[in-house]
Amino acid sequence: MRTAILASGRGSNLQALIDAHQSGALPIEIVAVGSDQLRAGALKRAEESGIPTRVFQTNHYRNRRGQEEDILSWLKENQVELLLLAGYMKVLGPQFMRQVHIPILNIHPSLLPAFPGLHAQRQALEYGVKVSGCTVHFVDEGLDSGPIILQEAVPVLPEDTEESISHRILAVEHRLYTEAVRLLALGKVERTGRQVKILQ
Ligand code: GAR
Repeated sequence: MRTAILASGRGSNLQALIDAHQSGALPIEIVAVGSDQLRAGALKRAEESGIPTRVFQTNHYRNRRGQEEDILSWLKENQVELLLLAGYMKVLGPQFMRQVHIPILNIHPSLLPAFPGLHAQRQALEYGVKVSGCTVHFVDEGLDSGPIILQEAVPVLPEDTEESISHRILAVEHRLYTEAVRLLALGKVERTGRQVKILQ
């Protein structure tokens, strides 16, 4: 599957996907990496692996629509069949979602539907949950609300800080995202409405 990845930050999930692909464990082709942040570490990581990058810098656009149209053209140009959000911190708007006809996956650092949106790990700590985790889901028009593909729980310890819990969840994210993409690429993810079945 020709795959593009959008990331806004340091890109450790992107790196996990690149590493899995390079080790032969991920039957996809990562054809392009894009970011809304010129200085995203993710861009550097992609360049180091020889993957073409593109910047859709938010303040270069008059509105979200213009930025999203450029992203849509970029997906078409690259004949992308799968889009992965890996720490992409912008919500894709309803027009974008109506025009894009390929699966889009996202990784989120909580057990959705708990703690959607920004700072999920901080939200979990402030709420006082004893267990959090991460979720790989299809992206729909809502905020972290699409059908869930895989989830894994991570304990929250009494001494946890936002940094320590984020770190513990991140290690699981890297494995879970790779596994979800692998299953999808192998045709083992069956979606019916909100229900997602993993085929054996
Ligand atoms: C990850 O924890 C990811 O789950 C989160 O941002 C971090 C990106 O790290 N995404 C969201 O919160 C999306 N709502 P990375 O750049 O090292 O992959």
